[in-house]
Amino acid sequence: MVETFNIGLGNNDTQTRKRAEFDFSSFWAEQAKKLDWFDDWDVTLDWNPPFAKWFVGGKINASYNALDVHQKTKSKKTAIFWEGEDGTSRNIAYEEMWIMVQKFANALKSLGVKKGDRVTIYLPMVPELPISMLACARIGATHTVVFSGFSATSLADRIEDSKSKIVITADGGFRRGSVVELKSVVDEAIANNDSVQNVIILERTKTPIKKNPRDLLWSDLMNSSSDDCPAEKLDSTHPLFILYTSGTTGKPKGVLHGTGGYLTHVHSTFGWAFDIKDSDVFFCTADIGWVTGHSYVAYGPLLHGATQVIYEGAPDYPSPSRMWEILQKYKVTIFYTTPTALRMFMKFGDDIPNSFDLSSLRLLGTVGEPINPEVWKWYYKTIGKEKCPIIDTWWQTETGGMLISPLPGIETIPLKPGSGTLPIPGVDIAVVDEEGNDVKPNTKGYLVIRKPWPGMLLTLWGDDTKYQTVYWSKYKNCYYPGDYAIKDEDGYFWLLGRADDVLKVAGHRIGTAELESSIVSHHDVAESAVCGIPDAIKGEVIIAFVVLKEGISKSEDILRKEIVSEIRNGVGPIATPEQIYFVSKLPKTRSGKIMRRLLKAIASKEKIGDVSTLEDGAAVNEVQSAFDELQKSINKN
Ligand code: WTA
Repeated sequence: MVETFNIGLGNNDTQTRKRAEFDFSSFWAEQAKKLDWFDDWDVTLDWNPPFAKWFVGGKINASYNALDVHQKTKSKKTAIFWEGEDGTSRNIAYEEMWIMVQKFANALKSLGVKKGDRVTIYLPMVPELPISMLACARIGATHTVVFSGFSATSLADRIEDSKSKIVITADGGFRRGSVVELKSVVDEAIANNDSVQNVIILERTKTPIKKNPRDLLWSDLMNSSSDDCPAEKLDSTHPLFILYTSGTTGKPKGVLHGTGGYLTHVHSTFGWAFDIKDSDVFFCTADIGWVTGHSYVAYGPLLHGATQVIYEGAPDYPSPSRMWEILQKYKVTIFYTTPTALRMFMKFGDDIPNSFDLSSLRLLGTVGEPINPEVWKWYYKTIGKEKCPIIDTWWQTETGGMLISPLPGIETIPLKPGSGTLPIPGVDIAVVDEEGNDVKPNTKGYLVIRKPWPGMLLTLWGDDTKYQTVYWSKYKNCYYPGDYAIKDEDGYFWLLGRADDVLKVAGHRIGTAELESSIVSHHDVAESAVCGIPDAIKGEVIIAFVVLKEGISKSEDILRKEIVSEIRNGVGPIATPEQIYFVSKLPKTRSGKIMRRLLKAIASKEKIGDVSTLEDGAAVNEVQSAFDELQKSINKN
């Protein structure tokens, strides 16, 4: 029996869902009207599967909706309470933010950045990161933010693929008290690049940098720029940003989002899910380098004129109480974080959060990976003191915003720990079998989305064909997110993790193919396959199986170190495997497909009999002998 929590803290608006069910496209048009448009649209939805265009003919600007619209009523209101890892802090009002964005937009213009140009942003979590994004949006440049933990190779791939004209970075970023020299990573990434005309450097850590002819300082540009830059009137479908994410293919995919549809989705869901009020202090712990930080740090709160906290550093630095200190200091009312962070906080023990005043909290959220019911209950009791609803929000980089979540801003429903509950209004989600038929309640199947939604990606940058094959080819006219799910008898959705070769390590998306190609770039490696196994804190950790070339006599310890450094340089430290096994060969089907689920079973120390569905199309005896062989070679490790 699943325990339910009915704390009755939410609104009671029964009309919103009814209107959405009656006509989803007019429903979204109604939501879009809550934003400020320069020109109305002619067509709400132009649906040419699998390409959706929302609010066609409408003119809008994201930066205008995040800043200009608040100047009459909220110019002195704090937009960002920024907390540096080193204890410094800044309090930025809406007016100040507006001025900085206009100045920086003018600086970009002075460097020749035009509507449609791409700008790569590789910054730590400082206010200049959302300021850069909004400055791009203001003049119609498409921003592409790269998480500052990514390596030079990953950054180079993304700059190259997007053909960015400008890279915005910092001298360094603080991480656990030490400085990560971001500017040198950029230098390495663009050593052989000819699209980048200028690199703009924010001085955050005052680390000495090597100055190249194309380098400019953020402070110099700001000092010489005027603070008047009217927002461009952009088409609703104008590309707002590209955000690279990992998939099942070797190279990361550039997920392209438009403007009007994306803003409508983010504005609506931010209001519905967080039930935002003018007096709230919102705090989302996600880095802006990931989609959560785009939608619910950079855009969502600002579209609503909300006050938010942005924290620069690691959640447990310099001590395990850092998060609770921040919550207490800023009297945070809404806290949005990840299951991985919660599992870590839970491990530190209740005494730590119990010694802080967290009474300002009224709503808690989680995102990015399945949350175990026991962690949900800990969050509910120890952090929320049984008075805050918990919203478990399911969505993806591609969906732009939440698609499944409790919505206290609209309705009060009983919560079930571990379930994202219901789809948001206007979105049609189902769980189907391999053939696309709805499965019975409480049966595991694949999640699909049957109607377009406004936050939906426009396409994959420069690759419409891949967009179609990755998301729209498994089922006809259905979007396939790549997740397993169950729908229960109450219509509640339970998200069960990835059904494809994508791993979720500490909530970060890592493609197995990308990781494997980085491992085989080591000159002694012939072949490699990776899989994820469950982990008590990170949700999932990476296990790598490596076949060496003939005649390699180096010690396994040395090889392990070299392979780890290959991965850190190729993908980034977040992709470091927990364990590397050297094996004589990889288990494959007759058609040459690696039996990944078998690897997973071996790495998790399960018995072959426990692996009920291998789903690799291999015969049982084939799997058994591959299993035995692999087990033998692992035992030698
Ligand atoms: C997983 C993060 C269970 C899912 C916003 C999805 C979740 C992938 C949840 C997208 C959740 C996200 N419960 N699983 N509440 N939220 N996921 O693109 O597998 O980094 O497909 O976007 O995260 O990851 P992405």
